[in-house]
Amino acid sequence: MSFYTPNKAFAKNARVKNMCEYQELVDKANEDYEGFWDSFAKTKIDWFEPYHTVLDESNAPFVKWFDGGKLNVAYQCVDRHINTRKNKAAIIFEGDRGDKQIITYLELYYQVNRFANLLKEDFGVQKGDRVVIYMPMIPEAAFAMLACARIGAIHSIVFGGFSAEALRDRILDAEAKVVITADGAYRKEKPYMLKHVVDEALSGDTTVQKVLVVERNNEDVIWVAGRDYSYNELIKSKSSICKPEPMGSEDPLFLLYTSGSTGKPKGVQHNTAGYILWAQMTMEWVFDVKENDTYWCTADIGWITGHTYIVYGPLAMGATTVMFEGVITYPDAGRPWKMVEEYKINQFYTAPTAIRVLHKTGEEEPKKYDISSLKVLGTVGEPIDPPAWKWYYEVVGNAQCAIVDTYWQTETGGHVVSPLPGATPIKPACATLPLPGIIAEILDPKTGKKVGAGESGYMCITRPWPSMIRGVWGDSQRFEKSYFGDVKKDGKAVYFTGDGANYDKNGYITITGRVDDVINVSGHRMGTAEVEAAIKKHPNVAEVAVVGKPHEIKGEGIFAYVVLKSDSGIADELEEFKMINKVIQKEIGNIAVCDDILFAPGLPKTRSGKIMRRILRAIAKGEAITQDISTLEDPSIVEKIEMMIKRTKGTL
Ligand code: PRX
Repeated sequence: MSFYTPNKAFAKNARVKNMCEYQELVDKANEDYEGFWDSFAKTKIDWFEPYHTVLDESNAPFVKWFDGGKLNVAYQCVDRHINTRKNKAAIIFEGDRGDKQIITYLELYYQVNRFANLLKEDFGVQKGDRVVIYMPMIPEAAFAMLACARIGAIHSIVFGGFSAEALRDRILDAEAKVVITADGAYRKEKPYMLKHVVDEALSGDTTVQKVLVVERNNEDVIWVAGRDYSYNELIKSKSSICKPEPMGSEDPLFLLYTSGSTGKPKGVQHNTAGYILWAQMTMEWVFDVKENDTYWCTADIGWITGHTYIVYGPLAMGATTVMFEGVITYPDAGRPWKMVEEYKINQFYTAPTAIRVLHKTGEEEPKKYDISSLKVLGTVGEPIDPPAWKWYYEVVGNAQCAIVDTYWQTETGGHVVSPLPGATPIKPACATLPLPGIIAEILDPKTGKKVGAGESGYMCITRPWPSMIRGVWGDSQRFEKSYFGDVKKDGKAVYFTGDGANYDKNGYITITGRVDDVINVSGHRMGTAEVEAAIKKHPNVAEVAVVGKPHEIKGEGIFAYVVLKSDSGIADELEEFKMINKVIQKEIGNIAVCDDILFAPGLPKTRSGKIMRRILRAIAKGEAITQDISTLEDPSIVEKIEMMIKRTKGTL
């Protein structure tokens, strides 16, 4: 496999210019781990009070970084830029219908301060209170995040595509006091509504006292007296001065719920100093954003990518970040390239699903625009396939741009394995090497030893890093069990990502995907247990097993094997398929609907009743079953299911 070496002109001015410089950083971290992090923490963060300890591992895996220090993330992202960049664009917003807004750092400062005062004065939000943000992609969502950070409230953003049930679960788990939402927003030039989802989520018992509604599309909404307030009205009278709360390095900054292999979604907790340090450092290293650059990440703020690489990372480093409300293929697949031309975007960061769609539906579109401003192209969220990678590299990047295939997770807070655009020779669909300071290793789960060239194993991180997850909200046991239960190195539990990976002969890492019961649909994590729990709510369903199946656009699709109750009297499977997906839409949201449902006569189980998902995964993928099935409770089930699949081929 040939490598693509970095663009020489780009490398000359990059922060990390070549592999020698990369290696120097890696060596520095290996030789003096704490010294490495200390040197960056001291220089990158504007501390209110210095820390006394770089890393405290005495209670591992519950670790503390930069203990004793005081800082504020809103100050780090906004206030400190006022002296040097007050008139620089902090956020460039493009609405779905092409409406535009440029928010300078000074304007952002005023907006965040007013918002913070509103939360404090009108809603009584205090340090440590949880605030749920259920918002479309509009600038107020970023103001809300930073306003929370300013006063020390812990935000929990729930992606706008989640249903009322999913929102309710997250509100209750976090015991949120306030919900910030919008009446709605625009999608493909049509208004859509959000507020009614919040109303439904708050019906019945709730911890929420107040709801703040940003009036984005001015559609009619129901206002609950004493609970719901208009942001547009309240904000008018708020002072634009609000002192930032001095936060301890380990005070929580936010929660973000994500799916695991078991049970309900978990509230991943990120704390203040370590998170913001790594968000900023990775922005600088991985995207190599320069003072006059314009950077665009197409994620939604409801996911970790939106947190770290639309809001916190870019603003912490004083960059210009583009925020886009719309759909990147609307009105056509030229939309992103039109925006790149118009804003002269220098770094573009998106997901493989988007790259595949743009490739398939608009192969020629990039050529219609002047996109020569692009320097770095990023991808994240799922393995990217070589054809999509090549199109991205050759057509979008004109073979001049580095592609940074950034591997990371909600739990890692920021990138952990990624090329550096001025240094790392890249190869298609490969995340390449751990970033300096991140001790990421592929280990054999049985022996805990690092696997060799050409071998596969479990992707682990064997030393704590500053932006790592600090806990699962309200469930410290689950934190230990979920992440530190599977792999031990030298007898010590290490962080396991849930992903499989392999090394090539150069030590480059390729991520092969989840090895647990998590499916990655268009870069969105779905726990099979969660989807199964939703499907079981359908009264006709007796049993269900959900697995992932390769999908041309989404990467993975959801495949459900459903056993119906014998007395359900189902005549029309298509109707039943629709009904089951309706239940999923209600319980989780559109993002979790099944692509395929097979109504099976039974499920392959061991004699102790354990469903053999490995077999079901293989069948869904059309792979041969290598496992011994003779010990199953009813081995004939496998054959029956295979026959059914053969029969339905073409329709499934
Ligand atoms: O399976 C890996 C995949 O996405 C998972 C993390 O999902 P989430 O927490 O939702 O965060 C997504 C955005 C960071 C990982 O466990 N993943 C992420 N990046 C890559 C990837 N798989 C392959 N290559 C990547 N670059």
